[in-house]
Amino acid sequence: MKKKNWLIVVILAIVTFGLGLLTNSIMERRAESAHLSRADNNIQPFEARNEIWGEAYPREYQSWAKTADTTFRSKYMSSNNDDLLEERPEMVILWAGYAFSKDYTAPRGHMHAVEDVRHTLRTGAPSDTSKSPQPGTCWTCKSPDVPRLMNEMGVANFYKTNWADLGSGVVNPIGCADCHDPKTMNLTITRPALVEAFHRSGKDISKATHQEMRSLVCAQCHVEYYFKGDEKYLTFPWDDGKKVEEIEAYYDNAKFTDFTHKLSRTPILKAQHPDYEIFQLGIHAQRGVSCADCHMPYKSEGGIKYTDHHVTSPLANINNTCQVCHRESEAVLAGNVYERQDYVYGLRNKLEKQLAMVHFYAKFLWDNGVKEPDMKPVLDLIRKSQWRWDFITASHGAAFHAPIEAQRVLADGLYYAMQAETKMNSLNDKMKITARFTMPDISSKAKAQAVIGLDMQKENTAKERFMQNVVPQWLQKAKEKGALYSAKS
Ligand code: HEC
Ligand code: HEC
Ligand code: HEC
Ligand code: HEC
Repeated sequence: MKKKNWLIVVILAIVTFGLGLLTNSIMERRAESAHLSRADNNIQPFEARNEIWGEAYPREYQSWAKTADTTFRSKYMSSNNDDLLEERPEMVILWAGYAFSKDYTAPRGHMHAVEDVRHTLRTGAPSDTSKSPQPGTCWTCKSPDVPRLMNEMGVANFYKTNWADLGSGVVNPIGCADCHDPKTMNLTITRPALVEAFHRSGKDISKATHQEMRSLVCAQCHVEYYFKGDEKYLTFPWDDGKKVEEIEAYYDNAKFTDFTHKLSRTPILKAQHPDYEIFQLGIHAQRGVSCADCHMPYKSEGGIKYTDHHVTSPLANINNTCQVCHRESEAVLAGNVYERQDYVYGLRNKLEKQLAMVHFYAKFLWDNGVKEPDMKPVLDLIRKSQWRWDFITASHGAAFHAPIEAQRVLADGLYYAMQAETKMNSLNDKMKITARFTMPDISSKAKAQAVIGLDMQKENTAKERFMQNVVPQWLQKAKEKGALYSAKS
């Protein structure tokens, strides 16, 4: 080619490149202006009614409303409230003496949060004359009415009020005001416990980057926590770090125990749902990927790019989630998730069975006269083991978020539970116990609950009465106070 022709090719290339840049920046500017005009609304501070926000932001609202859909199902997860105690009755035994043994279902979409916490047997069946066994703290991660009520009544006061006394106040499911500042529409932290945990470790959460905020909004709720002291003050146990051993050390130092196990008499720690903590230890977090990148992907509609607010399994939407960063097919990517889950859940199931056995075995030794000083080292091992089992089990996404960490923690848990068994075998020999230990039949939820002495008929009837009589009164009151949306207001 002649020199002149080369020149034309180069000029053309530059022009094409320049045009590309121009369209790109036009697109960006259009997106920006769409974004900016979005803060132009009349939404008042602490507006908890999602419908009011929806009038200004219909796309985000409509996609958010899809969290009501319960039809999605993957190999291990679903958007429905599957009865996990029925699927794995060993859990009834692991929580004997604690309300989780009555009722434990899989999480579903955010739209169901308020409804599900009313319905669970764990909140009891409060009436006008009886209270709930739970404090107000239990509502904290369910609703945008929470920041509103905390502002009205004070944070400490909110936590220590009985759960039932806030029933007509907490009525709108997890929504816009939980994550957004209505004035700027920026992401914001509305839950004091997260801000306080950062503050205690010398960090200022208001300095978090935009990408960090795309995970921190979730960390308001998807974390390990406990109700501290008589005031039931919601606290994240992160002062010594966020790893399973560091949180355990925090609880051990505070001499904290959630409940004493009914069979083995072990002082048990109940894990909540440490998704944010465990996620940090996986490759995606280490490469700067945020929760929203997979659970709230961008979506395009008629040239407008917006955030899909249908928070659910990323496998429901692989082309907008994983495939933004990975080139593999949907089948390969789903296969990557399932392979990790297969290994983690295989290990979890073994540990679960071993733990159920050691609880019964410990009871057998107590019943045959083994004394506290001999049992103490065994109970220490069971406490450590169950804490590790629960930490991974309660973190619903751990098997994919951080598969190596999940397997490490479960393997340690299995090791401690095996050691507990070995120690108990020695005690059995030392005491020359002639009776033989046998496992009771716990092959279904009902059988396991009967074995630990729960009267489920009574529990269920009381709950039905509560749902029929008390909840409608709460809703009526909420309507009168204007806390619930109605087309007229
Ligand atoms: C669980 C937290 C959460 C909830 C609840 C939530 N959002 Fe968002 N929202 C986000 C995140 C994360 C983004 C992405 C922000 C970013 O990266 O700048 C976002 C972005 C937005 C944006 C900016 C434009 C866009 O689509 O990216 C608007 C407007 C918005 N949300 C409106 C709403 C409305 C209306 C509701 C209630 C119906 C709502 N959000 C509920 C987390 C939430
Ligand atoms: C205000 C507390 C709160 C915030 C903020 C929050 N969640 Fe949730 N999330 C919950 C609760 C509670 C449930 C279970 C609801 C139920 O089962 O009724 C849940 C359920 C889920 C589920 C299960 C959905 C399904 O279809 O099964 C996923 C996934 C999830 N959240 C991810 C996130 C992500 C990602 C963020 C941040 C963008 C986030 N959540 C922010 C409290 C919260
Ligand atoms: C790289 C993608 C990715 C990121 C980032 C991510 N997740 Fe997940 N998450 C998944 C996958 C995949 C699953 C398993 C879904 C399934 O099996 O259907 C999952 C499962 C979950 C579940 C359980 C859902 C259920 O129905 O039980 C929750 C809750 C959750 N993630 C929350 C979070 C939170 C909170 C963060 C940030 C701290 C986060 N995720 C970050 C991919 C991701
Ligand atoms: C925002 C970008 C992003 C998204 C979205 C994303 N990933 Fe990744 N993924 C990464 C990065 C970055 C790595 C680390 C790769 C590296 O550094 O070489 C990674 C690593 C992986 C790995 C290898 C991890 C290992 O265990 O060694 C798998 C498998 C994977 N991703 C699957 C998925 C799946 C499945 C989804 C959707 C649920 C997903 N990713 C969503 C960016 C992403």
